[in-house]
Parts: sequence; C-alpha cells; structure tokens
Amino acid sequence: MFSSIPDDLIHSLCKAKAVTVLTGAGVSAESGIPTFRDAMDGLWAQYDPMDLATPEAFARDPAEVTRWYDHRRQKCMAVRPNSGHYALVELERSLDEQGLSFTLITQNVDRLHQRAGSQAVVELHGSIWDWICTCCGEKKEEFGMLCTEYPPRCTCGGVCRPGVVWFGEMLPVVALELSFAALEKCDFFFSIGTSSLVQPASEFIQIAGRNRAKTVEINLEPTPATPWADWYIAGRSGEILPGLIERLSP
Ligand code: OAD
Repeated sequence: MFSSIPDDLIHSLCKAKAVTVLTGAGVSAESGIPTFRDAMDGLWAQYDPMDLATPEAFARDPAEVTRWYDHRRQKCMAVRPNSGHYALVELERSLDEQGLSFTLITQNVDRLHQRAGSQAVVELHGSIWDWICTCCGEKKEEFGMLCTEYPPRCTCGGVCRPGVVWFGEMLPVVALELSFAALEKCDFFFSIGTSSLVQPASEFIQIAGRNRAKTVEINLEPTPATPWADWYIAGRSGEILPGLIERLSP
C-alpha cells in the first residue's frame, strides 16, 4: 500500500498549465528491469559500473561491453510497460486535450515510456536500442534485434557503441536544452522512481521549485530530492500513479 494522495496535490495538479515529469529506474522496476542502486538486485550490485559503463571500459574490451549491453537489451525486449508508464501516457493525453503542456524527461534508456505511448519524451541518458558508429558517427535504432557479433559493426566497417551516456561523458546537448526549457516553463513537477544521486537530473526538482512550480516526489524511499518536494509520496510508482491520475478525471 502507499500513503494516500493529498487533496491539495490533486487540486494543484488540476490547475497546472505545464507539467514536467522526471523518471528514473524505479518506474521501469515494475516491468522487471533492475534498477541501478537497489542493494539486492540492482545492476550495480552485480556489476561494477566502472567495468562496463565507461568509455575506458569500451576502449579496453568493446566485445565484453557490447555483449553486456546486448544482454540488457534482451531483458528490455522481454518486458512490457507497466501501469505507471500507462498512467503517464494518460496524464499527457489529458493535458494535450486541454492544449496544456507536458514533458517527460527520463533517465531510463529502455524506451518503455515510448512503447507505452508517451510522445513528448526527452531521453537524458540516451537509449539502449541505439548503436552509434565510433567511426562515421551513424546512429541506428535496432529495437528488438540482438547482435550477431560483438562489438557490432557499422556498414562502414567501424565499431559500434551503445547509444547511452557513460560515466564521465557529457549528456546529449539537445536533451539538456529541452529539459531546462521544460523546467523553466513548468508549474508542476514530478520526480518519480529516481534516487536523485546523479547530476544534473538530481537538481531538477530544485530548479523547478525555484521557478515556482509545485513539486512532488514519488519514490520507494526518501532521497536527497525529498526536502525540496512540496509533497513526498512513499510507495511504488505503478500503484501510486494510476490512483493519482484517476482522481484527476472529472
Ligand atoms: P537508481 O537505481 O539509482 O534509483 C532507483 C530509485 O527508484 C531508488 O530510489 C528506489 O528506491 C526507487 N524505486 C525502486 N522501485 C520503485 C518503484 N516500484 N516505485 C517507485 N520507486 C522505486 O536509478 P536512477 O535514479 O534512475 O545513469 O539512476 C540514475 C542514473 O544513475 C541512471 O540513469 C544511470 C545511473 O548511473 C547512466 O547510466 C548515465
């Protein structure tokens, strides 16, 4: 069960003209995709991210790194969006119908938001479905296809890398620009299913709050973002979000 959703949150969200949502691995967790930092079954509990999710690791052993990402792609292929993803699609649809603004910024690379039907998605950390040639720079999305060789090769013969942001790398400029524009514009901000430990996403709730947006955090446990939230709802996003969106419908 989760703590109930306060009436004043619903009242404030019903008046919102521009909603921005930030999601993290906790939203995909209910589809069966491991988070990064959950102690028992998080990805980083099984692997040292520095061994696999860095440019140095890829330079050292591109076959091992691309094999690991293909393994993660296989997991992503086998799962489906969950009720939390679909609730966010419903929120976007409802705002669109009223001619209001909605932006979904995700740190997730699994594209489950898009598979659920979300349209205005900003991928802050790229996508596990994209391969980028390290020689000619060509980016190709290969949804649902596993590699036949490690590392995969481009038609130009170059070695391909996953289209995700690695530790120590810059975030995609366009995604950052779209994110800050959405934070500037929004009057209501959600932080959902993220440990709020990785910058710049971890500061989005503060930026939104400074821009006088109302802010809510939905997460299994408190995070460094919690003190900045007008409302903190402890619980599973796949349970809380449908209940919250249901209360918006007239
Ligand atoms: P984390 O694994 O750091 O945090 C997931 C958060 O979701 C935790 O605070 C959990 O308590 C919470 N959580 C787990 N299941 C949940 C559920 N069903 N409902 C609600 N909350 C739940 O993942 P992120 O915060 O997404 O970056 O990690 C941020 C970034 O760190 C990732 O994008 C990745 C990693 O390094 C890159 O790969 C560049």
